[in-house]
Amino acid sequence: ALVLVLALALGYLLGSIPFGLLLTRSAGTKDIRSIGSGNIGATNVLRTGRKDLAAATLVLDALKGTAAVLIARYFLGADAALAAGLGAFVGHIAPVWLRFRGGKGVATFLGVTIGLFWPAAIVFAVVWLGAAYLTRYSSLSALMASVATVVAAKALAGDRMALLLALLAVLLWIKHHANIRRLLDGTEGKIGAKG
Ligand code: G3P
Repeated sequence: ALVLVLALALGYLLGSIPFGLLLTRSAGTKDIRSIGSGNIGATNVLRTGRKDLAAATLVLDALKGTAAVLIARYFLGADAALAAGLGAFVGHIAPVWLRFRGGKGVATFLGVTIGLFWPAAIVFAVVWLGAAYLTRYSSLSALMASVATVVAAKALAGDRMALLLALLAVLLWIKHHANIRRLLDGTEGKIGAKG
């Protein structure tokens, strides 16, 4: 059990690094939390007009999840990898450093999935890209991709993996409650539109 607590803490520490906020702050753009959706994720960083920063946010927010899982698996074992993935995701959506006001978890969900079971991450990427191409909604694409990832994990990896990813997907959906309301209202912003 101590190993799992360690893995959870390691994941949380890595996951709670708010790359979107750090990158935009050091680039001197307006406070990311005061533009667009106010989120600290890559989609909202793109609303600053800085594609480079948005891409870096996506990659780094994903990589911290992958790193947490791989480090935990290497040093602490397979169960610890699951705990580290959970820790990283929770760290991203609820970082203590930002009074628990973190991101919506899309990039970190992808990164954790890459580390835990990469075939499901391919499913995530294909569904996200397909939905984004068709709808231009980042949030809707993430909502659909997260569900597809759970289905893929259930089919290809088994119950434990699917259960862990389902828990992350539920948290991801909860963090998108305002996006879901806007999607239903028809007022959700499209990818790249300035906020
Ligand atoms: O990256 C999260 C995405 O699904 C929605 O972001 O800024 O449009 O709320 P945003």
